[in-house]
Amino acid sequence: MEPLYRVQGGGPLHGDVRISGAKNAALPCLAASLLTTEPCTIENLPAIADVDLFLEILRQLGAEVDHDAANHRVTVQAVGPLAEAPPDRLVANQRASFLVMGPLLAREGRGGCAAPGGDIIGQRPLDVHLRGFRSLGADVRTEAGRFVASGQLRGSRIVLDYPSVLGTENLLLAAVLAEGETVIVNAAAEPEVVALASLLSAMGARIHGAGSHTITVYGVASLHGATTRLIPDRIETGTFAIAAAITGGDVRLVDARPRDLDALLFKLQEIGVEVEEGDGSLRVRRRGAMQATTVQAVPFPGLATDLQALVTTLLTQAEGVSVVNERVFENRLGYVGELRKMGARIVTAGATAIVQGPSPLHGAVVQGLDVRASAALVVAALAADGETELLDIFHLERGYECFGEKLRGLGAAIDRVGVEPATPRL
Ligand code: UD1
Repeated sequence: MEPLYRVQGGGPLHGDVRISGAKNAALPCLAASLLTTEPCTIENLPAIADVDLFLEILRQLGAEVDHDAANHRVTVQAVGPLAEAPPDRLVANQRASFLVMGPLLAREGRGGCAAPGGDIIGQRPLDVHLRGFRSLGADVRTEAGRFVASGQLRGSRIVLDYPSVLGTENLLLAAVLAEGETVIVNAAAEPEVVALASLLSAMGARIHGAGSHTITVYGVASLHGATTRLIPDRIETGTFAIAAAITGGDVRLVDARPRDLDALLFKLQEIGVEVEEGDGSLRVRRRGAMQATTVQAVPFPGLATDLQALVTTLLTQAEGVSVVNERVFENRLGYVGELRKMGARIVTAGATAIVQGPSPLHGAVVQGLDVRASAALVVAALAADGETELLDIFHLERGYECFGEKLRGLGAAIDRVGVEPATPRL
């Protein structure tokens, strides 16, 4: 039997939980290590499958990887020469693997990558990345099913059609070694972009405006090694905050950065959840009923699309009719069918979910469809009557470190049962 999570719903969560380093900051920072021949060290690295996969991609490109998983630390040294492209089979499992294009192109004058896989939550085109590389003077084409970009990069003014997070990161990774000045207009402002820019600056890059929608990069001839400590994972923080709220619990999130979660914390308070911000910590407690609300999932600093399934799940327990609009990905409500199996009363129309609450939830066998939807189903299971089995937990384990263990530490009855498939997913 493939591994699954068995959750016995019921009691409120209590206690402290430590938040891990951010998955979505780890991946671009690992990509940045390809930009120098010197060692780059990343601390607070989460122990998750997506990081393992990216490290394997770096090894396959020719980098030396010294991974101390127990101490959440990795040193990558990409002395070179580097391979032109990562193996297609690795790229097929992860959207962020496309982040190797920017560094390979900037450093080697040529980089390739197959169309990446990842969560099935919408079309997820790559035009922002590819147009940006072209603006920097690269020739971009497809060869044998791969995207290949080549050429000497020159700084330019790049106006993004959409503030794509990975798109902005890929262009930053390329522009730092381009000759002259690059301005990225309509850039993504997510904290993970800032985390990448801060590592790149520590490596000798000259970047201004990261965290705003206009980023200016003054190209330098070469970069050197550096060490960075990853920011706390704001989506993991939000997940545990919502788990605390849905169970009527009282949980302190330690090593968190509340400022990265303004939109969620504001919503939680609006619906009746108590939130207390500390210095690097956050206490979330619910004592009374919750009220329905409206929610929009939008780019930062609005409510993160990665929290949309979790917020919808929470709203199944709020009194009244809530409306959730997903405005980033066009197909990110697939999990609603699974929530309905547990008794949720939700209808969808396009990218809008209409939630009628409170609806008592009951245990069921449900399937994780992507990393965040899987977490939402576990959160639902914590508040449900009886036992829930979550299948396809490899999605969840791509992005959450020790999820079951952390929840057990807060008093949840959750077990990981079954055995790993004979062929590893890497
Ligand atoms: C990143 C995050 C993901 C999060 C998402 C939105 C990582 C590893 N993943 O994904 O967890 O859900 O940001 O916050 O950091 N788009 C285009 N053209 C492009 C690229 C994207 O039209 O070239 C569109 C997408 O179809 C989507 C929207 O832009 O509708 C947002 O996508 P984007 O910001 O690129 O998400 P990712 O960077 O893939």
